[in-house]
Amino acid sequence: MKCLDNVERIPAPSREVLFERYVRPGRPVILTDLFDGQPVRALESVEAARALLGPEPVKLSERQLVAAMRALDAASSGTPSVEPTPPACPTVGDYLDLLGAEPRTPWVMNELPTPASLRARIQLPDLLAPPPGHPAPEGYLRSFAHLHNAGSATDLHFDSDGRQVFMLQVFGRKRYILFPPSAGPKLHPVANYGTALLARFPEEEKLAFLRFAGAWDCVLEPGETLLMPAFVWHHVEYLDLSLSVNFRIADHGGMARYLLRHLHWDVHSQNVTRALLYEEPGRSRHDALFQELRRACEARYASPLERYRHMRTLLRDVASRLCPGTVDTDYFLSTLGPMAPWVPQLYRVYAGAPSTAALTEALPPDSGWLEAA
Ligand SMILES: [Fe+2]
Repeated sequence: MKCLDNVERIPAPSREVLFERYVRPGRPVILTDLFDGQPVRALESVEAARALLGPEPVKLSERQLVAAMRALDAASSGTPSVEPTPPACPTVGDYLDLLGAEPRTPWVMNELPTPASLRARIQLPDLLAPPPGHPAPEGYLRSFAHLHNAGSATDLHFDSDGRQVFMLQVFGRKRYILFPPSAGPKLHPVANYGTALLARFPEEEKLAFLRFAGAWDCVLEPGETLLMPAFVWHHVEYLDLSLSVNFRIADHGGMARYLLRHLHWDVHSQNVTRALLYEEPGRSRHDALFQELRRACEARYASPLERYRHMRTLLRDVASRLCPGTVDTDYFLSTLGPMAPWVPQLYRVYAGAPSTAALTEALPPDSGWLEAA
């Protein structure tokens, strides 16, 4: 496996340096020592994970893109989508047994709210706590554990909750391929998924594509923590059976908080919200533009589809003004039109269903950690 290996590695810097050099400009970085000296670093093997986490309840899921593509196939062929039944694995120990028996199983432990037994081995670094003197906003931090088998992958997407993510690699190695939001048109995006299936690219072609689209590419080693800035595209390959824990931080300004709750997600809303991520209404040179978006969000429309069409057109226009170069190609609805039964999923946020962000915000906050920090 070849890798561009072009993500900077540094010891954990000050909060100010991290924000100005990496978080604000949207540049990923690997922090080499953020969790050094903590008990979690002693979890070096599958056996150690089993001893600690074996009895923890687990919910398995399929790779997201596999499920999405099955729904698309079903919609385009006019047949109902048949959801497979996950294997009976009520605990982490059962799942590890399954991985031993079926190393290539498509079922993964993705986004398990980090169990208390694992949290007890982690003291939240100051860098991940709210800024000193500021009370933690509701839902500031969320944390999830990921356990995948070697050969598994998380397909290309961006997280529509707009959080920056610190990913601690506990054991095993993972390859992270990241793209800036501006690379979206090159990734053939549908909603917040890139349909460029990097897991199936031959290695040389993959490297050529990564250079073409301006990727960051690295292998995260045990003990390292990768900062993925908000709204970066990411594709993950599991080189070993591995466990990681993420820390998802919502530090958006007021403009992004509003947009996260009111927009559908595609490459245009991604780029617009990323550009306004730390801006405050009434105190930004982009205020007129934000108010234009706000009026459109709060206007009345004949139908959810009409609202979607209007917002899509407006966001494309705003993106062309705010971040030129991100809207060169229009890949969706127009190209997916024949698959009409599935297409409404793309604008379901306007049909009364909660948005992804709203669903995420409904989860309990990690108040225990914040109080301890
Ligand atoms: Fe993600």
